[in-house]
Amino acid sequence: MLLRHKPELTSADVTPKSIYLQRRTLLRGMGLAGAAALAGTSLLDLLAPARAAAATTKLSGVIPGAFRTGEPPTPYNDVTHYNNFYEFGLDKTDPAKNAQNFRTSPWLLSVEGEVRKPRKFSLDELLKLAPLEERIYRHRCVEAWSIVVPWIGYSLQALAKLVEPTPQARFVAFQSFYDPAQMPQAKYTGLEFPYVEGLRLDEALHPLALLCFGMYGETLPNQDGAPVRLVLPWKYGFKSIKSIVKIRFTSSQPPTSWNLAKPSEYGFYSNVNPAVDHPRWSQAKERRLGEFFKRATRPFNGYAEQVASLYSGMDLRKNF
Ligand code: MTE
Repeated sequence: MLLRHKPELTSADVTPKSIYLQRRTLLRGMGLAGAAALAGTSLLDLLAPARAAAATTKLSGVIPGAFRTGEPPTPYNDVTHYNNFYEFGLDKTDPAKNAQNFRTSPWLLSVEGEVRKPRKFSLDELLKLAPLEERIYRHRCVEAWSIVVPWIGYSLQALAKLVEPTPQARFVAFQSFYDPAQMPQAKYTGLEFPYVEGLRLDEALHPLALLCFGMYGETLPNQDGAPVRLVLPWKYGFKSIKSIVKIRFTSSQPPTSWNLAKPSEYGFYSNVNPAVDHPRWSQAKERRLGEFFKRATRPFNGYAEQVASLYSGMDLRKNF
């Protein structure tokens, strides 16, 4: 029987990591069987020490990119142990545990649709397609937590140019890998898989839109979207789709996972906007992982100078 949770983000999801970890410690201190039942988790899970992330390797030939916020990167351990990757479970700590044996090699990315030169790329081909840059981006989740990450990749634009979009191409659709055998937790989340996302063509071609292969000098850990993901720093984190296997140029607006699940709460654009609250919580402030005090959220996550012109004349309350 399928145990379907509502696909909405709950207040538990906005719990700061420090408090969240305190809760786990508290549960450990309680009678374990009762605590496990209360936490909805297994005894083994409660007793297990924090496990290491899956193996990553150093990426060579990485050059410093132009986009680098002056802010200090969030500690690696936070970025790799507080994740949203619903294919591997609902809980923020699930992906680090459950994605460890995820097979990311061999990997093929198919680029197709309204393009003159559709093509399937191996990961090696992708890694050689353009110089790998390190870009330090702010990354703001819709659940009001944020991180600063030194990502490695190049503008999605470089890949798009190679396949030559036709004049009919107006949007770009993205699809994640999905294998229920490797991702048995996915069916309990209430989301439909494979996870899908979409951008308008001009958004996808914006230099800030990063096709990402690594972080902190190394390949992406599985829980952060290995081997290839998007990073869109001016949009809420859920637009930054992980473990991509298909990119399709389309003439009409493609469906997106969170919009399919809850259209009243998650729009197609999902640009970071402190002036437009989520129906169930404010978007005015955010908590940087590892920090206690909240900070003000900035329009387009601080990237307004670069991207605001993409949306000129649009009502951003309607197009949330
Ligand atoms: N991509 C896939 N395939 N599945 C997901 O569940 N979650 C999204 C996004 N990409 C998600 C995904 C959400 S909600 C967020 S906030 C970011 O990934 C989190 O990225 P991070 O774990 O690297 O911080």
